[in-house]
Amino acid sequence: MKFIDNYVQKFVQEDYKNFESEIFRIDKLLKNKTCVGNNMLGWQDLNVNFKKIKNVAENINSNSDCILIIGIGGSYLGAKMAIDFLNPVNKNKIYFIGHNLDSEHLNNILNKIQDRKIHAIIISKSGNTIEIKATLDIIFNFIRKKNKQNLHKCFTVVTGKNGFLRNFAEINNWQILDIPDNIGGRFSVLTNVGLLPIAISGADIEKIISGAKEIKKNIENSSNSNYNYCYKYAIIRNALYKKKFMIELFSSFSSRMISFIEWLKQLFGESEGKDNKGLFPTSVFFSTDLHSLGQFIQEGSKILFETIFFVKNLKLDLKLSDKFENYDNYKSFNEINRKIFESVVLAHHDGKVPCNIMEIEEFSELELGRLIYFFEFSCALSALMLGVNPFNQPGVEVYKKIMLNK
Ligand code: PA5
Repeated sequence: MKFIDNYVQKFVQEDYKNFESEIFRIDKLLKNKTCVGNNMLGWQDLNVNFKKIKNVAENINSNSDCILIIGIGGSYLGAKMAIDFLNPVNKNKIYFIGHNLDSEHLNNILNKIQDRKIHAIIISKSGNTIEIKATLDIIFNFIRKKNKQNLHKCFTVVTGKNGFLRNFAEINNWQILDIPDNIGGRFSVLTNVGLLPIAISGADIEKIISGAKEIKKNIENSSNSNYNYCYKYAIIRNALYKKKFMIELFSSFSSRMISFIEWLKQLFGESEGKDNKGLFPTSVFFSTDLHSLGQFIQEGSKILFETIFFVKNLKLDLKLSDKFENYDNYKSFNEINRKIFESVVLAHHDGKVPCNIMEIEEFSELELGRLIYFFEFSCALSALMLGVNPFNQPGVEVYKKIMLNK
C-alpha cells in the first residue's frame, strides 16, 4: 500500500509546515490515550483471540450451508467490505440482512434460501437497535419453522455487556461472543464483530491482523522523523476543508473496492460530521461515473477533492483480440483501466481537483489489514484536528428519539 500526494501538493504546500506542531500534539494525545473520547481507543490494541474465533467459525461452517449476518452500520460494514475485498471461498453462502427494513429485499433472500441449512449471526453492540430486533423476529420464526430440534444451535450473537439481544440470547441458550466496551461500531472490524464473519468466509484473519500491526508499528516508529502517510492524509483533509473543499470523493476502478469505500464513508462521516463541522464523504466508481458525474468533477463547483484507489496487481485480466490491439494499441482490460486511471488523475488535477492516490498492491489479507489500520488511525487523527470527538455519534440518536416520542 502506498499513499501518493504528488497531485495534491500544490494545493497544500504550506500546510504541511503550518500543521506540523498540531499533528504531533494530536498524535501524542492519541498515543497517550488522553484525547477526547479516550475511553474508546481499544481498536488500537489489536488483541484477538484467534483460536476462539476460528473454532466458532469452523463449527458454524460444518453445521450450515447458509449464513445470515444480521447487523447495521459498524456492525456489518466492516465484515462486508473485507469479504468483498478478499472474495474468499465461502463468500456466496453469506447474506447480510438487517441493514434495511425493505420487506421485499428480505423476502427475496428467504425465498432463495428456504431449503438451506441456515445459521444466523446477530451482531449489535447496543443489542437494542430496532432494525436488528425486527429482522431477528422474522428470522427467528423462519428458522424455528424448519428446525424444531436443536434450534439454539442455529444462532450466534455478538454483542455488548447489556441490552435486549444479550438477554434474549441467554434465555434461549445461544452462543455469545463479546464486543469490548472500549471499541465503537465503526472501529470494530478487527474484533469479533468483523473477524467472525470474515473467518467464516474462509479468509485468513491472522494475516489481516499482521497487516494492521505492521502499519501500527510504522506509525509508532516514524512519528518523530518525516511525516508518515497517516499524518499527511490527516493534514491534507483538514487543510483542504479550510480551503472550502467540503467533499471527499472516494473513487475506485475495481468493483471489489465498492464495499471498502462504503465502510470508509461510515468511518469518516460518523466520526467527523458533528458540531456543524466535517467533510462530506461520498463515492464514485470508474469508468461508470466518468460518463455521468465525471463532467461535474472536472468542471463543476470547486468543492471536492478526490482520494483515488488503484489496485496494481490483479489476477484476472481479460485479453483483447489482435484486431482491437491494432486499432488502439491496448492488449487487455487492465492495461486500459490503468491508462484511464493515470489520465483521470492528470485531467482532474488539471481541472483544479486535488487528488490523493492510494495505490493498493493486491487484494490480499495483509494489504487489507494495512489499509484498515491506516484509515482508522488517520480518521481519528483527522477528527481530533477538526476539534470533534471521533468516537461518538449523537446525531444517530435523534431519529430514534423521535420514533419513541422522547
Ligand atoms: O459506529 C457506530 O457505532 C454505529 O454505526 C453502530 O455500529 C450502528 O448504529 C449499529 O449499532 P449497534 O451495533 O448497537 O446495533
